[in-house]
Amino acid sequence: MKVIGIETSCDETGVAIYDSDKGLIADLLYSQIQLHKEFGGVVPEIASRDHIRKTIPMIHEALAKANCSAKNIDGIAYTAGPGLIGALLVGSSIAKSLALAWGVPALGIHHMEGHLLAANLSSKPPSHPFVALLVSGGHTQLMRCENYGNYEMLGESVDDAAGEAFDKVAKMLGLGYPGGPEIAKAARKGDHNRFTFPRPMTNKPGLNFSFSGLKTFVLNTINDLDHLDQQDIADVACAFEDAVVDTIRIKCERAMEQTGLDSLVIAGGVSANQHLRKILGTMTNRSGYKLYYPETNLCTDNGAMIAYAGYQRLVAGQTETLEIKVRPRWPLNELETM
Ligand code: KG4
Ligand code: ZN
Repeated sequence: MKVIGIETSCDETGVAIYDSDKGLIADLLYSQIQLHKEFGGVVPEIASRDHIRKTIPMIHEALAKANCSAKNIDGIAYTAGPGLIGALLVGSSIAKSLALAWGVPALGIHHMEGHLLAANLSSKPPSHPFVALLVSGGHTQLMRCENYGNYEMLGESVDDAAGEAFDKVAKMLGLGYPGGPEIAKAARKGDHNRFTFPRPMTNKPGLNFSFSGLKTFVLNTINDLDHLDQQDIADVACAFEDAVVDTIRIKCERAMEQTGLDSLVIAGGVSANQHLRKILGTMTNRSGYKLYYPETNLCTDNGAMIAYAGYQRLVAGQTETLEIKVRPRWPLNELETM
């Protein structure tokens, strides 16, 4: 079975083909970052227009790369939410039009379920049940995953997502966008002992997160420094990364104890962070838990995770009408179980 996946929820156009026998047979990604750079963030209208320009040529290219034609495709998966409404509508309209033209089903996929299932495409896939930590630019959530589509929310951020905090702190430090990889790079040259930033909400019970107070703490530290030199930037980046990673580690450890499960899956853009992987690796090793994550290139937005999630849902018999429907806001625990 071959499923084509289309991701257009934000500022990346992703098109991939998943083959149930061979795995990923095409995986194309185009980033709009250069287009949005001068505005300091993603401009929704520019994002939608660029998805219109890129998606269909990338579908042609993916078919050519996979050495197949439309006749070989058994299903289409597209990101139906959460995300920018205009951007989502581009992927949804193209997917439903192709479904009609090709006579195959098209299914709307939850972007965060896509991120979560990206771990199944790695050489060491997890098996249910497990605890999932979803950390992206828009979400920070701990979920209990009983099975495909059966997700119970354990805790989430009450304000900024972890990735959003990385992006905002990078901006304060004059680093580029997206901020996560820039902070991680700067932090490598930083001194872990110069600053200590708070680990928000770790003294209270519960599994919710909050990163906006930490962000303000970082801003005050930067303001006190007056003029930032390269070492200051590295030291602040390092202390910030330590604080976010340690906070996440404390909450993950708590979620493992609370659920009694022994597997932890991390996914989403921030799960590409090497320091996070190392600290969670140490924690899970020490406690006898198993840790799983997607390949680094599949942590951030891509079409492969959407193709794979679509494959799982099509195999489970899920269907959808040809109506063009998206959900810019879509809680993960409202998904259909498989
Ligand atoms: O999952 P993703 O590509 O898009 C969303 O669904 O939001 O995540 C993007 C986020 C950005 O905030 C970016 O700064 C962050 O993931 N990110 C990282 C790293 N790579 C990407 N954060 C920390 N360390 C990284 N290496
Ligand atoms: Zn994402």
